[in-house]
Amino acid sequence: MSAKLKNKVAVVTGGSSGIGLAMAKLFAAEGARVAITGRNQANLQAAAAAIGDQAIGIPGDVASLPDLDRLYTTVQEQLGRIDILVVNAAVYVLGPLTGFTEAMFDKVSDINFKGAFFTVQKALPYLNNGASVILISSTVNEKGVPNHAAYAASKAAVRSLARSFSAELLDRKIRVNALTPGPVDTPVFETVAGSREEAKAMAGNMAAFTPAKRIADASEIAAAALYLASDESAYMIGAELLVDGGLRSL
Ligand SMILES: NC(=O)c1ccc[n+]([C@@H]2O[C@H](COP(=O)([O-])OP(=O)(O)OC[C@H]3O[C@@H](n4cnc5c(N)ncnc54)[C@H](OP(=O)(O)O)[C@@H]3O)[C@@H](O)[C@H]2O)c1
Repeated sequence: MSAKLKNKVAVVTGGSSGIGLAMAKLFAAEGARVAITGRNQANLQAAAAAIGDQAIGIPGDVASLPDLDRLYTTVQEQLGRIDILVVNAAVYVLGPLTGFTEAMFDKVSDINFKGAFFTVQKALPYLNNGASVILISSTVNEKGVPNHAAYAASKAAVRSLARSFSAELLDRKIRVNALTPGPVDTPVFETVAGSREEAKAMAGNMAAFTPAKRIADASEIAAAALYLASDESAYMIGAELLVDGGLRSL
């Protein structure tokens, strides 16, 4: 590895699984000290151990403002000030417009939208000037897909936050960009499918309608996140980096 993130401190919310875990592993391999978050403590500790000595797991819910305060004071105490913040934690709650309940809506909105907003707001006193903030969106942020209304809107909101936050943080040279994956092979499909087989079938369907004819490996999204995290992307501000196997453009 090239140690592109030597001496940097990174926080990855939802770093205990899937894309978040892949990003945390790559950042650590590139020399960063990494804090990951998640609600399930056992998964979090296992993930931190898999990342290595440079990683700590801090349990918490991104929809809870006291949890976010605790996250950042712990990071400050244990790792110091933050250079890279990845706002990745999210839930994938699907359902038709007719049957979508208030509880489902509140869950998506509280974690994916409110959680993203306050994950950044609460980080501000702890971020170094010049920090890179990466908001994980999704290609459904610009598409109409059945059963995805609330999730897609939450991801469009996240895309929007990258623009507005960047505009407000220019004086501190804090860059906020959206990283927008297409379908990625992670445990998320198991959270919406009834069984492992159904999750596999979902992933297979997504591969079939993606021009690349496969879904991404989480490491491919992590590679894009490394670019946004490092100073190589210094001219990207309020932008969107699309890593979607051709889904949007073709
Ligand atoms: N996989 C895809 O095809 C895909 C495509 C486009 C975009 N994305 C986006 O990529 C990101 C990661 O998705 P993934 O596929 O890697 O999902 P995943 O494997 O289900 O991982 C989600 C992570 O977020 C954490 N999390 C969920 N709710 C949380 C909360 N309220 N507070 C703190 N942590 C929470 C989970 O841990 P706990 O459950 O223990 O809290 C877990 O660590 C999400 O933003 C997702 O919307 C995914």
